[in-house]
Amino acid sequence: MTTPDTPTVHHLDSADRLADGSVNPYYLEDRKWRVSVARVGGKLFAFDDLCTHEACPLSAGILTGTTILCQCHGCRYDITTGAVLNGPAIRPLTVYPVSEANGVITISY
Ligand code: FES
Repeated sequence: MTTPDTPTVHHLDSADRLADGSVNPYYLEDRKWRVSVARVGGKLFAFDDLCTHEACPLSAGILTGTTILCQCHGCRYDITTGAVLNGPAIRPLTVYPVSEANGVITISY
């Protein structure tokens, strides 16, 4: 049983299905929320999949290094922190702890 202080752990996918330089969306059924996980230089980054501007899916955007570009109106976010690098969005993305063990990607939230 979890308490409010205990993060929920969610197993997302087999790690070998997320190639370096790519980003995949996942749906968290219990939260009714979408997250994206990107692999850059072998490291994983997890963040909200929906742009904070008008909710376009960032997983359909363009990942360049640790920057993701929203295809709808050109926002760019730093996926390491969720910070907005340029608008029109003004609210940052939430980022999540993510790890990989035994071929499974896991996030906590
Ligand atoms: S919805 Fe992403 S920039 Fe507008």
